[in-house]
Amino acid sequence: MNEATTPRREFVFSRKDFEEVRKMIYDHAGIALSDAKEDMVYSRLARRLRATGKRSFQDYLALIRAGHAEEWEAFVNSLTTNLTDFFREMHHFHILRDFLKTRRDRPITIWSSASSTGEEPYSIAMTAVESLGGFHAPVEVLASDLDTNVLKKAADGVYPVERLKKLSESQQRQFFFKGTGDREGMAKVKPELQSMVKYFRLNLLDSAWSIRQPLDAIFCRNVMIYFDKPTQYAILKKMKPLLKPDGLLFVGHSEALYHATDLFRLRGQTVYEHAERKGGK
Ligand SMILES: C[S@@+](CC[C@H](N)C(=O)[O-])C[C@H]1O[C@@H](n2cnc3c(N)ncnc32)[C@H](O)[C@@H]1O
Repeated sequence: MNEATTPRREFVFSRKDFEEVRKMIYDHAGIALSDAKEDMVYSRLARRLRATGKRSFQDYLALIRAGHAEEWEAFVNSLTTNLTDFFREMHHFHILRDFLKTRRDRPITIWSSASSTGEEPYSIAMTAVESLGGFHAPVEVLASDLDTNVLKKAADGVYPVERLKKLSESQQRQFFFKGTGDREGMAKVKPELQSMVKYFRLNLLDSAWSIRQPLDAIFCRNVMIYFDKPTQYAILKKMKPLLKPDGLLFVGHSEALYHATDLFRLRGQTVYEHAERKGGK
């Protein structure tokens, strides 16, 4: 970009500032920010400078370095990318539906490990209700994310109705209340569905995860793209013993696990199973 087209920045954001941000978020969350993300980082953090009344990145980063707990959380939340959708990568939900049909009458636990604003875990819960014929089945969806803002939104379960476009009319009626009056245009997840999902904060980079029960399926979708290969491998290695021997791991469409074939093998369409599982499908 030449000078005429470079947007003028309100704050000086030096290469050193960018490198410092990059190191902090990599060390904390495993998120590897490329050079191409510099503008994005500037605009997201410039909002934090305004919110905290800081006049320079140096002052702001000093606050972060000092370990100010509230601002640290806001800093981390600002640097995550939370794009998601209901029934994103629809083929996964067809596979999940058929898989759950083979597991009737036993407790089922599914983990959505980067749940963002809740569309993924609610899509899992809706699939379970439809597959198992009602809300009575013992299904629990664990839903975690690093970002505390998205977890709040997910637990509220309120979305603009346009977000429900991939749901049929009958799914919208069965699982959502439509707002009226000043809530016109919004939809809220019904309590029966909401109560199937348990939200909590979990950093995939943390050494200890607060998940104890064996899992029937793990959704780890569209988050590994932010991690480098050694970090991805370390996370997959920790997930492996949590997944039941006949469980399934769902990853995003661009997250093929070529570097972890000793842990998981492809079953089809970015769905994986234990590498040493006998028999296959
Ligand atoms: C692009 S969204 C993907 C949401 C959903 N899984 C999907 O596929 O639609 C990525 C999510 O990963 C979360 N995330 C990033 N780093 C994380 C980490 N170290 N631990 C847990 N979640 C993380 C972000 O906060 C964000 O909500």
